[in-house]
Amino acid sequence: MDNLYFDKDVNLDSITNLKIFVIGYGNQGKAHAHNLRDSGLNVVVGLRDGSPSAKLAYEDGFDCMDISAGVMECDIISILIPDQCMAEVFKTEIIEYLSPGKILIFAHGYNIHFKEILPPPFVDVGMVAPSGPGHAVRKEFLDGNGVPTLFAVHQDFSGKTKQLILEYSKAIGGTRICCFQSTFKEETETDLYGEQISLTGIIPMIINESFKVLLEAGYSPTVSWFVSFYEVKNIADLISKIGINDFYKAVSETAEYGGLRQADKLIDDKFKNEMKSALDFIQTGKFHQNWKNESRTGYPKLKAMRKNLKDSPINEITNKMLKILEQNKSNES
Ligand SMILES: NC(=O)c1ccc[n+]([C@@H]2O[C@H](COP(=O)([O-])OP(=O)(O)OC[C@H]3O[C@@H](n4cnc5c(N)ncnc54)[C@H](OP(=O)(O)O)[C@@H]3O)[C@@H](O)[C@H]2O)c1
Repeated sequence: MDNLYFDKDVNLDSITNLKIFVIGYGNQGKAHAHNLRDSGLNVVVGLRDGSPSAKLAYEDGFDCMDISAGVMECDIISILIPDQCMAEVFKTEIIEYLSPGKILIFAHGYNIHFKEILPPPFVDVGMVAPSGPGHAVRKEFLDGNGVPTLFAVHQDFSGKTKQLILEYSKAIGGTRICCFQSTFKEETETDLYGEQISLTGIIPMIINESFKVLLEAGYSPTVSWFVSFYEVKNIADLISKIGINDFYKAVSETAEYGGLRQADKLIDDKFKNEMKSALDFIQTGKFHQNWKNESRTGYPKLKAMRKNLKDSPINEITNKMLKILEQNKSNES
């Protein structure tokens, strides 16, 4: 496949003499900063005034700088703070300190794609988005592996953007396993869709609802929890390891037949149309506007949905069972 890149395809020639400014020392920021430094690169961490993360970053041996000062001083500016506050930080602490030849790196295309951030034409803009959380980016790197990483070029002022972001991807461990090329549009729209349909939409909430159905039918919370919640991890691991087709070969024929028959009924045309309208809602920018309004008005719907979920009966039994299982695991070792 021609848009996949591995360690053998990339060296670190261009990035080695550049100074990298990692803004944010959270989930992704901390992992990128450590991996880049372990790859022999020159890394400075950018934090806001009074940041609670400053102590940790210093203890971890990083030089820290104010955001605007670091933007002026460094060549590569990797913006790894929450997407919701990125546009404001960009407006107040980044844009006026940029100069020709700098490269901005994002780990998600949201703010660029929805034009919340409009970089000046004289900088390069790229994306390096690991397909996993920061702790996995760090752990895999330490284990000699990497997390598959999407990369994309939005603006190529220097003519070297693709090379530089591939080198950055290599330095955080991405090309050890697989780097794949995309665009800001594709990454943003598919990322939102993937979240809203499977990852944060259906999977957690089907666990919650399936548990409630068993509970309301009079089954014991413990037994209902094991089938609705606990077994999901083993199934998810198995699907990830061997694929959907072989997964069905690995379960009993009763499970295969019952599951496929029921899925046909549940995932009907109405459901498929809902998935298509979710994608349309994202592609037309309506989700972005909806989310912006939600944030401007103090997150009323999010707060109501959080409250609803907090009151769900699955929480109490989950806390109890996870504690019991964890205690017994440590007792064994
Ligand atoms: N989380 C993931 O698994 C994941 C995966 C792939 C891509 N991404 C992308 O990676 C980027 C970073 O996400 P993340 O999850 O790593 O973020 P995060 O952990 O929530 O970021 C926390 C860091 O951002 C800083 N920060 C928060 N608000 C700030 C503000 N107003 N001004 C300056 N700094 C601020 C925090 O500063 P303090 O230390 O001062 O509190 C902290 O250092 C996002 O674009 C996200 O979409 C995330």
